[in-house]
Order: sequence, then structure tokens, then C-alpha cells
Amino acid sequence: MTTTLLLTPYSLGRLRLPNRMVMAPMTRFRAAEDGTPMPVVADYYAQRASAGLIVTEGIWPSRAGQSGWRMPGLETVEHIKGWRAVTEAVHASGGRIFAQLMHGGRQGHPLSRLTGDIPAGPSAIPVPGPVHVRDGGKADAVTPRVMTLEDIQQAVRDHAAAARNAIEAGFDGVELHGANSYLIHQFLADNTNLRDDKYGRRTVEDRIRFPVEVVKAVANAIGAGRTGLRLSPGNPQFGMKEADPRPVYRPLVQALDGLGLAYLHLTDNDEYAALTDLRALWHGALIANVGENREPTSRADGEAVLLTGRADLVSYGRAFIANPDLPRRFERNSVLNSINGDHLYTHGATGYTDYLPLGVPAGSQQSAEPV
Ligand SMILES: Cc1cc2nc3c(=O)[nH]c(=O)nc-3n(C[C@H](O)[C@H](O)[C@H](O)COP(=O)(O)O)c2cc1C
Repeated sequence: MTTTLLLTPYSLGRLRLPNRMVMAPMTRFRAAEDGTPMPVVADYYAQRASAGLIVTEGIWPSRAGQSGWRMPGLETVEHIKGWRAVTEAVHASGGRIFAQLMHGGRQGHPLSRLTGDIPAGPSAIPVPGPVHVRDGGKADAVTPRVMTLEDIQQAVRDHAAAARNAIEAGFDGVELHGANSYLIHQFLADNTNLRDDKYGRRTVEDRIRFPVEVVKAVANAIGAGRTGLRLSPGNPQFGMKEADPRPVYRPLVQALDGLGLAYLHLTDNDEYAALTDLRALWHGALIANVGENREPTSRADGEAVLLTGRADLVSYGRAFIANPDLPRRFERNSVLNSINGDHLYTHGATGYTDYLPLGVPAGSQQSAEPV
């Protein structure tokens, strides 16, 4: 047995986390066509309930924010019912779970959206294509429609409504996806926000206005203590460009510090050491992710983050996909399963709920004594 900082408990607001390992949000495309999570989704997250905290895959708050076919939503009564089965399964297994709200903005294609329309973003700048569309196809990216002021206000209201739905579905809280090229990030980045209005590029107050409004609206709707935010300053994924994240992200973090949010979830990257730069400006709980565009986060990576005081918690993505009992494996210094990349984005149980925990012989789904 090994005791490490990763395996020490942490109080996240009113939640008692048994360890500091967060399951990072990961899109897996296991929803029905209408966006309702399939029953296998409850099994998948319940299997991973030993994480200190689970953050779900990105979930669209409204159809306008759907970026991919068979991604889940949190808009309708059916969605709420589907997610309630998930939260009940996780809680029954002793876990804690936040829903990640992910509005796609310019990400998305008419062939991948229930509305069948062109998605809207801050400016008419397309994602570098081609893009994935429904049923495994590829298509040229479309130029997004420019969001009107009314679209922007609607997006703020949609996030608040979806957050209320998340609480009704039994989630412990909501993480707003402000990272990795989705709508909130599109307002922050240099090359996706060319607006000249009060949500645009003229001043930093304008550039951060939409992210701040969304966070405040969700905090008002469900309580700041149940609201988290994920940011990935400088992440170049999907063609995002941020020449110097510091003059944007420092004021953003300062504007949000003091609201009493559940946490800030920051991804570090090779272009900009976000954790080092922003840690001193954030006085609440901080979750680090250090694997984006890199090798999967290792135990040593996570331990180093905690030892150097750069964050309070560490999120693990790919390692949690392949190892449903990851904390126990770290505790026992056990070998890790490797990930099967062929089934990341398929729709069934294969490559999803068939990764075995320690002590379960291959070919059997019976639980057994840990080895
Ligand atoms: C299959 C897959 C899907 C992902 N989907 C999302 C997502 O929906 N939302 C998000 O914020 N990040 C998403 N990510 C990024 C992960 O949350 C995480 O930051 C990344 O995998 C790096 O961490 P790791 O090295 O521990 O895997 C995804 C990553 C993977 C591998």
C-alpha cells in the first residue's frame, strides 16, 4: 500500500472527497439521438465512483449549443430522467458527480445537430476543417452565424436553465466548459472573437463579459458553491489562437475570485504555464489538468502538482477511462490497463464499461476480492 497526497481527502465545499483525483470530463457519444444518456452511461460512471469527484462528459445546455451527434443534453424532461439514473447510480456507489455544461458555439455542423441549422459563434470564423459529422462521416466546416445580442443573452439563460435541470437530475454541481475551443473559450480567444460590441475585442472587460455573465447566471441559479469553471488558457486545440493569455485570463480569474465558486479547473499547456501564473490570483479550490495535448497524466505528474502546491486536486482523463478503480490502483502500485482508442467514440458498452477493476478475472463481470 502507498499513501500519497493524491489519496488524501479533501473538502470541496460541503462535499467530502475521499481523495484528490478528479475524473476529467470526457465526451464518449453514448447518448441516444435525442441527447438522452443511454442506460450504459449509468454503469460507466458508477464503475468510476471511487474518484474523489467525477465530472461528466460535455453536455449541451440547449439544442443551439449541440456540437456533435449523440452527445448528451440537459434540456428536456427525458434528459433529466436519463441523468437522474446516472446520478443515482453514482451516489449509490458512494461517489460524487458534477455535470459539465458544454455549449459548442461555432463547433458543430448542420449534419450533427438536431436543429439541422448552422451553429452560431462570436464571429464568422469557421473551425479549421474538415470536421467529424454524424455516423462517422467527415465534412467541410461551416462558417458560423454571428451571435446577436439576443443570442448571447439566450445562451446565458440556457446555461442557467440547464444548471437547474442538472440539480433536478441529482448532480452535486455543474462545471462550465470554458476550455478547449467551445463557446466560452471562443469569446476569450484572439482569433474567434472579432466583435466590436460590448462582448468583443475592444477591451478586456468586453472580452471576458460573456464568460463572467454565464458564471454569475449559473451561480445565481444553483448557488456559487455548486458552480465550477474549466479554463484552458492558450490551448491551441481546434485552431484557437491566444498570443498572450495573461492579459485576458488574469482579469477573468480576478473577476471570478471571491464569488465563492466550487472550484476552478485549469489545464496547463506547453505554450503557457497557467497553473503557475494564475494560482496566486485564485483563492478557492483549484483542480489541475496537466495532460492536455500531452501523454496521459501519470501518477507522478499528479503527485508533483500537489507537492509543488500548484493545485488542490488533479484531474485524470484517459487513465480513468481504462482504469475504473484508478485510486485503488495508485494505492496498490498496480499496473494500469491501457486505453483502447478504437472505442472512445463508438456507442456501445465495448471499450466503455468493459475495463475490468482489479481482482476481476477477464471474461467475468463478477466482482471479486481485490488482489
Ligand atoms: C476521449 C476524450 C474526450 C474528451 N472530452 C472532453 C470534454 O467533453 N470536455 C472537456 O473539458 N475535456 C475533454 N477532454 C479532455 C480531458 O478532460 C483531459 O483534459 C485530457 O484527456 C488530458 O488529461 P489526461 O492526460 O489525464 O487524459 C477529452 C479527452 C478525451 C481523451
